[in-house]
Amino acid sequence: MHYPEYRPRRLRRNENLRRLVRETKLSVDDLVYPLFVTFGKKVKKPIASMPGNFQMSIDYLVDEVGKTKEMGIPAVLLFGIPETKDEVASGAFAEKGIIQQAVKAIKDKVSDILVVTDLCLCEYTSHGHCGMLDGEEVDNDSTLEVLGEAAVSQAKAGADVIAPSGMMDGQVLAIREALDEEGFEHLPIMSYSAKYASCFYGPFRDAAESAPQFGDRRTYQMDPPNSDEAMREIMLDVEEGADIIMVKPALPYLDIIHRAKEEFDLPLAAYNVSGEFSMIKAAANLGWLDEERAMMESLTSIKRAGADIIITYFAQDAAKILTK
Ligand code: PBG
Repeated sequence: MHYPEYRPRRLRRNENLRRLVRETKLSVDDLVYPLFVTFGKKVKKPIASMPGNFQMSIDYLVDEVGKTKEMGIPAVLLFGIPETKDEVASGAFAEKGIIQQAVKAIKDKVSDILVVTDLCLCEYTSHGHCGMLDGEEVDNDSTLEVLGEAAVSQAKAGADVIAPSGMMDGQVLAIREALDEEGFEHLPIMSYSAKYASCFYGPFRDAAESAPQFGDRRTYQMDPPNSDEAMREIMLDVEEGADIIMVKPALPYLDIIHRAKEEFDLPLAAYNVSGEFSMIKAAANLGWLDEERAMMESLTSIKRAGADIIITYFAQDAAKILTK
């Protein structure tokens, strides 16, 4: 293909030509909408660093899930903010825990939308770490037992997909075994397989009130410069029984998404995290970016990199555009 015979601009001359040759098509089918549920009634508390997102009590949450379903989005991802926290994350596996109650309430009132539950202990521990402490260390293997128990209690409440995000070694196997033992062998696990210790979770930690009280998460979440290690993490999760694998965050890690798509043939999710969302919102607020175009370009790029599923706080806004 040589100029002047081949002129790439010929196929860009108008929108219909561009539509015909477009390689990546974002669809509402790809989207998962994260929601934060809190205790109380008639609570809808704006999250300052994530405009348009709220901590909602169960009554409002159920309405929001209904609205999300009406928009054609196939799934929500739930995070719980419990009334009290303790050293051992009791709220994560309590029968009347916030997530358990929320899932039940959704299942009672809204049909035909998937309820994915994030499974991590950081929202439930007083110290804000994603596992059981041994001194100031997060102890891997004692955390696995708690994760198994929490997974089963989410499953009993009616969760459709369990999404472990704590980055403990062996967590997928522990959860798979715990679920199978209780008769939930049909429930899929969407594993946050390659989750990096990222500053882009900052706004989320306000939203979920889950910032660690001391230290950071670098002894369990991945070191951002690493790519081969991400493939090893994903391979372990596949061997342990993950049904869907995930890379998180998305935009600063498109190379990891691309590589994961090439190397593994499981459905691949990417989490367009809070900081990625808030950056666009902030710049748009200042008039520095066109919000709609920045959103669609970002989401399309995540898909182009290889993601099959995109978890994003933009899900509702994008769905409006995609289904119009
Ligand atoms: C819980 C969890 C986090 C996110 C999803 N699940 C925070 C963290 O690891 O600190 C981040 C999501 C986001 O930033 O949008 N472990």
